[in-house]
Amino acid sequence: MQEEVINLKNEALAQIMEVSSFEELETIRVTYLGRSGKFTSLIKRIREVSPEKRKQAGLLVNEAKNTIVKALASQKNHLKESARAWFDPTVPGIKPAMGHLHLVTQAIEEISALFTQLGFVRNRYPEVEWDWYAFETLNMPEGHPARDEWETFFVDAPANPKFGQMVLTPHTSSAQVREMQRVKSPPVRMINIAKCYRRQIDASHVPMFHQFEGLVIDKGISVANLKGTLDYFARNFFGPERKTRLRPFHFQFTEPSFEVDVTCGVCLGRGCKLCKNGWLELGGAGMVHPRVLAAGGINPEKYSGYAFGWGVERTYMMKSGLQIPDIRLIYGSDLRFLKQF
Ligand code: DAH
Repeated sequence: MQEEVINLKNEALAQIMEVSSFEELETIRVTYLGRSGKFTSLIKRIREVSPEKRKQAGLLVNEAKNTIVKALASQKNHLKESARAWFDPTVPGIKPAMGHLHLVTQAIEEISALFTQLGFVRNRYPEVEWDWYAFETLNMPEGHPARDEWETFFVDAPANPKFGQMVLTPHTSSAQVREMQRVKSPPVRMINIAKCYRRQIDASHVPMFHQFEGLVIDKGISVANLKGTLDYFARNFFGPERKTRLRPFHFQFTEPSFEVDVTCGVCLGRGCKLCKNGWLELGGAGMVHPRVLAAGGINPEKYSGYAFGWGVERTYMMKSGLQIPDIRLIYGSDLRFLKQF
């Protein structure tokens, strides 16, 4: 009997070491220690053992049973531990935070897509520019008071005898003559969207902002073409029911010159608290001044053109009806603000 007990114990322990699930462990427990298990029947047989050996046999069986109970418990713990470390690839993961394009980049992409559909070509020109392209060729000779409108940053570098001082582009109009020189002979259909720099900072101004500038030159271009393009833009950018109007204004580089207004998105031109008179101001436009055409090497007797230039941030804010109390928020990199767009 002694040998039988030891064999049975070893057999059970070997099986316990092999298991990989709680179910298997339970089966082993039932097989050896269950009501009709192998040890239970062994215990019943103790009675058959001679009285002098009975006590020892009982102790042996008990010891074997206890060893198995302990082994079962420790294997169970072991299984629990490894279940915790187990990696389940089907559990949904933690989503990484996804960024998106900055609202100004989104606006730029939308604006360039709209004008590209009309056949405009987007070109890029230097942001550090000569006075010549920023003012001189735009009919604003040195010392002209109209220059005061553009609070310009001058670069501390030697001036060029012909092109004058270097400046940070105060407006995208500096691309007009550059584009004429590039194309050489019309048609010209340019959209220039770029950074502009002015010495200004308060709740409604930042020293760096964006403008988009359109320039079209060909034979027989008139204000009607300008108006058509502006209306196309207003309908597609702001909404199908929106209209534009031209208000007489003055710029040195256009003649005639206009300020462009668009109907208010809330009252559609009837007048409300937001807009007061039904219209919101978009930006400047006009027919390219003959002197500007001539500066670009284009014969003003033969060709005419229109141009317009507006602020990207401003236009975007008008589209979404956003009333941003402080324009500096746009460039503040505060994700709580930027996430909303
Ligand atoms: N460059 C002007 C500005 O910064 C805007 C402008 C007005 C551009 C009239 C134009 C134009 O092309 O025709 O205020």
